[in-house]
Amino acid sequence: MESMERCEFRPLLSSSKGNREGFCHWLSTVRLSRIIFCILIVLVIVPIVTHYYLSSVGSEQSESFHSRNKLDLPDDLGSAKATEVKVRIEEMLRIKMSVNNELRDLEAKRQKLQSEISSLGMKIEELKNEAGRKVIELDRIKLSISQAEVAHLEILERNQPELRLPDKLEPNLSNDILPMPNLEAESNCSIYSCVDFSRCSLISNFPVYVYPFSGEGYEERISASLSQTLNYNPHITSNSQEACLFIYVNSSPESELRKNLVTLSHWAGDGRNHIIFNIAFSSKETPTILSHGKNQNSTYGRAMIVQSVFQTYRPHFDLLVPPLLGPPGSDVWYDLPSITPARRRYLLSYSGQSFGSSPEVQSTLEQLTASTSSDEFYFEFQCSNPSNKTDTSLCGTIQTRSAVLQQSTFVLIPLPPTDLTSLAVQLRLYEALKYGSIPIMVGNHNAKFLLPYEDVIDWNRALIKLPTSRLPELHFYTRAVTDRDILAMRRQGRVLWEKYFGSVQSIVDSVVAVYRHRIGIPPPAILDEPSPSVFNETFTPLKTEAALQDVNGDLDENLGPIEPAYPSPKFQRNLTFSLLHGYEMWNTWTHPFHLFPQTPYDPVMPSEAKFIGSGLGFRPIGGGCGGSGKEFSENLGGNLPREQFTIVILTYQREQVLIESLARLNGLPYLHKVVVVWNSPRPPSPDLKWPEIGVEVHVIRTLKNSLNNRFLPYDVIETEAVLSVDDDAHLRHDEIIFGFRVWREQRDRVVGFPGRFHAWDLEHKNWAYNSNYSCELSMILTGAAFYHKYYNYLYSLVMPQAIRDKVDEFMNCEDIAMNFLVSHLTRQPPVKVTSRWTFRCPGCPVSLSEDETHFQERHKCINFFVKVYGYMPLLNTQFRVDSVLFKTRIPHDKQKCFKFI
Ligand SMILES: *[C@@H]1O[C@H](CO)[C@@H](O)[C@H](O)[C@H]1NC(C)=O
Ligand SMILES: *[C@@H]1O[C@H](CO)[C@@H](O)[C@H](O)[C@H]1NC(C)=O
Ligand SMILES: *[C@@H]1O[C@H](CO)[C@@H](O)[C@H](O)[C@H]1NC(C)=O
Ligand SMILES: *[C@@H]1O[C@H](CO)[C@@H](O)[C@H](O)[C@H]1NC(C)=O
Ligand SMILES: *[C@@H]1O[C@H](CO)[C@@H](O)[C@H](O)[C@H]1NC(C)=O
Ligand SMILES: *[C@@H]1O[C@H](CO)[C@@H](O)[C@H](O)[C@H]1NC(C)=O
Ligand SMILES: *[C@@H]1O[C@H](CO)[C@@H](O)[C@H](O)[C@H]1NC(C)=O
Repeated sequence: MESMERCEFRPLLSSSKGNREGFCHWLSTVRLSRIIFCILIVLVIVPIVTHYYLSSVGSEQSESFHSRNKLDLPDDLGSAKATEVKVRIEEMLRIKMSVNNELRDLEAKRQKLQSEISSLGMKIEELKNEAGRKVIELDRIKLSISQAEVAHLEILERNQPELRLPDKLEPNLSNDILPMPNLEAESNCSIYSCVDFSRCSLISNFPVYVYPFSGEGYEERISASLSQTLNYNPHITSNSQEACLFIYVNSSPESELRKNLVTLSHWAGDGRNHIIFNIAFSSKETPTILSHGKNQNSTYGRAMIVQSVFQTYRPHFDLLVPPLLGPPGSDVWYDLPSITPARRRYLLSYSGQSFGSSPEVQSTLEQLTASTSSDEFYFEFQCSNPSNKTDTSLCGTIQTRSAVLQQSTFVLIPLPPTDLTSLAVQLRLYEALKYGSIPIMVGNHNAKFLLPYEDVIDWNRALIKLPTSRLPELHFYTRAVTDRDILAMRRQGRVLWEKYFGSVQSIVDSVVAVYRHRIGIPPPAILDEPSPSVFNETFTPLKTEAALQDVNGDLDENLGPIEPAYPSPKFQRNLTFSLLHGYEMWNTWTHPFHLFPQTPYDPVMPSEAKFIGSGLGFRPIGGGCGGSGKEFSENLGGNLPREQFTIVILTYQREQVLIESLARLNGLPYLHKVVVVWNSPRPPSPDLKWPEIGVEVHVIRTLKNSLNNRFLPYDVIETEAVLSVDDDAHLRHDEIIFGFRVWREQRDRVVGFPGRFHAWDLEHKNWAYNSNYSCELSMILTGAAFYHKYYNYLYSLVMPQAIRDKVDEFMNCEDIAMNFLVSHLTRQPPVKVTSRWTFRCPGCPVSLSEDETHFQERHKCINFFVKVYGYMPLLNTQFRVDSVLFKTRIPHDKQKCFKFI
């Protein structure tokens, strides 16, 4: 079925046909001119030669005639004349014969010479081509040498040892490293005044120790999922000596808690570096809410408090978390409603009793329903069925509440008049985000809008805060929000909910990540996938010389220097990434839970920096003077330092096709390595000859035949740029290099060749995959596309498992899944480059029914992925990227960027 995928790609423009036509044309002109030439030669030379011979022979004979004439004439004139004439005629005939023979010989000689001339001419032509090729090759080698020299100079210039990690801080176990807090100081605690940083070395990876807890006293479900999820957190250590933070999970009443605290092995008198994770409220009708500094008896010293309800709160020190309600940790998308349509049945809903205590508010809201507009409202001020679980201000069960929320565009969440927050508020927020109703938090002037993860999450993007006195303006406000903004806020709410609310795992991970963020330690590095070679240690695969291939049609075009392998630098921004991108890390495109070796979001420097002081690795075009043609091909230019790319080829039991594809890569500039993902359980045949193409070819053994293997973050991929190609894809070198240059400027997007789109099926009211010609596209197939290695991590480790499962189920759609992922994160369409896109499909089964199931599966995938994301993340694009001087008229002595694209 892989090959079926290939079948879709028909060559849009058969280059071989074009070539053949060109060749014929050339041939015909050559023949014609040669024939004319030959005729001319025959017309000119033959008469001259004939004339010459005839005249010389004639003059000889005429002399002898004369002598004979003189001698013979006096004798028998009559008979003598007759014999003489006869003899002469015979002689003439003989002469004619010999002349004819000579002419024939000459003609043969001439033809031989002619053919020799033409063969020599061809040889000259060949040698000329060869010379041209050699010159280009020489140029290429010269360029490569000069590039190598620059790289060498750079290494010398840098002239500093690699950054050495500092010695790890040793925790000072003395109790008086910090002054003991008094009540007042305790309530002013901040990370800097109350945490012992000597325990938390920058390079320690933020180890966290969790005091053992039993299920006793805990609600069973939470206890089980907590202990389970804590084990999955990469920060958790069993060595309490090295820990930076200590987590104590509490479910007891306050009096009991205080007794327990002082017995903790690392409490150190004041609970420094301790987090009290208080889950007592979730199982009790009257929750235990921890409150520091109220009196001498309720002091928790320097311990930080994490819970879902607060009466006193120390900003950037304590942490408000959502209630632990979700499953332990798995995909949480399946009971979330779709984000669309923007406007639901009720413009606004509220059900509960908090507003009941405020008759004016209630009457303001009731006036809304009485208003003449067509908007519908759902208000319930007296709970017919109060939720008995936690708080009587909440009506109904989760089922009845969710039914209303799923039909509400906005939902009101009143804040408690005096407290910071309440469990009811947190539950309402949790449910509103889950069911896609945009929360409007309403509070009076005493209320503080304390929201979960307050210091890292930008809540303005997901909810609206209103003072109570603005309620009369509420209708206007909600009507004024456009559909676009509604969808943006609802989508953001859903993203936040999935990342930080949805499962116990996500809450535990978030708590640890927030404290790590506050203390300023980088997240743990995300792990690469090992890449076992398909060959065992004793086996050396056969190699064969790969010729520079003419099939690329670009042998006479220098596309760039052939450099030694140069992996992209990694883990350069461990410490600064969360400072510069902390906002995006928590709120938009990446996860705060992992440190990535590279991301597509390196900031660019002001242009002059690469000439003044920070030029390391930059390869400006023409040394900074710019240029086209030669100058352009010599340097990468752009706004970022030089780099190379890795080609990843997924292959399944098509050895010869693969070998041919590999051979075509010979001499490709900027290529770092070729990674072949060997999806077949059968190892390659031992007599297979692997072409030498100037770069390492690493063949990875896979555990199972899965298309998801294409996107595993293999450790052998050492560059940021990854070019994913099918084993039979036929891309020309200039197309690849151009694609690479384009990707360098669109690093967070999929950049490639075969475009497809998602079409709305008017009949079935759902999405359909479409590969017809169209002026709008929304996907670039990863059979030939560049993308950032960062997306390999996200695809394999962060994207919902259900999507990868669907890919395995159908053995199809991995390319669609990648496009969904990237568009979901960036809210940008992919980038299509150049018109030329040649594709070969040797021996491809093109049975229509197979094609049909292939398409049906892709329709199903699209609609399933939409369900997982809650909306259609793909976006349309109507443009295609060509090189700057493409089709520009330029003077004859100037060159373009590329010859053909
Ligand atoms: C620990 O801190 C105390 C108080 O600042 C200091 O006197 C002591 O020397 C420190 N111990 C070590 C091993 O650094
Ligand atoms: C705590 O903060 C209050 C005001 O926020 C200030 O008046 C007081 O001096 C602070 N106390 C300490 C010990 O820093
Ligand atoms: C603190 O606790 C002690 C003993 O448990 C008790 O005697 C004392 O009255 C308490 N003080 C306050 C202010 O609650
Ligand atoms: C009220 O509590 C009982 C017993 O805990 C439970 O069975 C029932 O489902 C609860 N009702 C609601 C509406 O939560
Ligand atoms: C950055 O983090 C990586 C992965 O944890 C580590 O290998 C590297 O040494 C760190 N580099 C710096 C400069 O902190
Ligand atoms: C290594 O692989 C070759 C070819 O696949 C096979 O013939 C040989 O037996 C293998 N050797 C070992 C030690 O597995
Ligand atoms: C593609 O185009 C053809 C001809 O225009 C049309 O018959 C076919 O239905 C189209 N396919 C899809 C999937 O839209």
